[in-house]
Amino acid sequence: MKTPIIDFVERYKDSHSLRFHMPGHKGKIHLGPELWDITEIAGADELYHPTGIIRASEENAARLFGAGRTVYSTEGSSLCIRAMVYLALLSAKTQGRKPVIFAGRNAHKTFLSACALLDADVRWLYPKDGNSLISCAIDGEALEKALSETKEKPAAVYITTPDYLGSLVDVKALAAVCHCHGIPLLVDNAHGAYLKFLPQGMHPLTLDADLCCDSAHKTLPVLTGGAYLHISKTAPSLFSENADRAMALFASTSPSYLILQSLDACNAYLDSGYRERLAALIHKLDKLKSQLTAHSYSLIGDEPIKLTLAPKSYGYTGDELHDLLRVHNMECEFSDPDFLTLMFTPDTTDEALHHLQSVLLDVPRKAAISVQAPPLPHPARVFSIRDAMLSPGVKITIEEAEGRIFADAHVGCPPCIPIIAAGERIDQDAVRCFQYYGIKTCRVIP
Ligand SMILES: Cc1ncc(COP(=O)(O)O)c(C=O)c1O
Repeated sequence: MKTPIIDFVERYKDSHSLRFHMPGHKGKIHLGPELWDITEIAGADELYHPTGIIRASEENAARLFGAGRTVYSTEGSSLCIRAMVYLALLSAKTQGRKPVIFAGRNAHKTFLSACALLDADVRWLYPKDGNSLISCAIDGEALEKALSETKEKPAAVYITTPDYLGSLVDVKALAAVCHCHGIPLLVDNAHGAYLKFLPQGMHPLTLDADLCCDSAHKTLPVLTGGAYLHISKTAPSLFSENADRAMALFASTSPSYLILQSLDACNAYLDSGYRERLAALIHKLDKLKSQLTAHSYSLIGDEPIKLTLAPKSYGYTGDELHDLLRVHNMECEFSDPDFLTLMFTPDTTDEALHHLQSVLLDVPRKAAISVQAPPLPHPARVFSIRDAMLSPGVKITIEEAEGRIFADAHVGCPPCIPIIAAGERIDQDAVRCFQYYGIKTCRVIP
């Protein structure tokens, strides 16, 4: 597969042109990558008006992912999420629908800030059971019930899958329900770019989602910030016609060409043996997971390239086990009182896997911890997300918070999932949740 962005920058670098343009480093090495760090000069195309090398590279990505259109982001899935919400509202407007989105409660904070910026209302879809803030197991039946009970069709349904813990929801079933009601399905697939390359094809586009974002940088060998906005081949044409406009509305006018080159390189990487490398990694991880389970660790999640331990039954909180791994020079993606999540790619070495395995198998088992996470709050909405987030807000301690109206997108990062969303009244369950996750202060409406 060709790499038009890389090829252009290489040629420009080798031309030794005098750089009377931005960036200010002029190609002089201060950190290392400056020679390749250019801006939208002649021939370099324009990210949100692409007709040349960027367009060609995006078309390569669209072919790899089976998308009708793929748009690059150098500002993560966060930018793509704002664009998806904008596109959903634009489409709703043309159909005379209100700007309301039905969303799984485990949405990332960027979804909330997008709703605040665009003044969208959200109706939350809560999981039927399960207590984790991070997962939201919604099935087709629950979605059908929510949609048939509502008088006005929402602009879109928005779900987050895979979630931070590696759990997946049945995108195909949800897409079928959405399409029956004439509603687009938007998926935050920030953690799942690689899903396209599994033998069984588990990427949201393969499973009929209309729009999704993938943080290429989370699971593929791409520099931080590199992401895709994918539009399915069957999505309403309004989405692809307005995709660049939607991204440009929120994006910087100085996209990183280092990240664009990294996305370009990734196309070639995915096209040359990636499926096999991924399958080999999954085989090794399956073995590791079986050994850990046989050793009495309890594991959760469905994702083949994540490992999420629920170590309380083994006698440790997720944070304690993380600290133990840190002693052995390992840093994991996420931990909290209940879980410890590790992420792997084909670039994870066998040595790293063996080290992890031997350290985990050496951890002495202790008496199980019986303290459970408090119930998930279902707080009442008092203000719109926009009114609450655009209000000045005052910082108070959690002990003073009950009854007050929350004014921020979230507390705590990662996983950046709101215990309570902006504009909702902080109830007793929310206070218990704040305390359980060690959150000491929050911002409320004065
Ligand atoms: C579920 C989820 N969605 C969206 C994002 C934002 O992605 P990005 O960091 O690529 O902007 C994250 C980041 O961690 C995430 O975990």
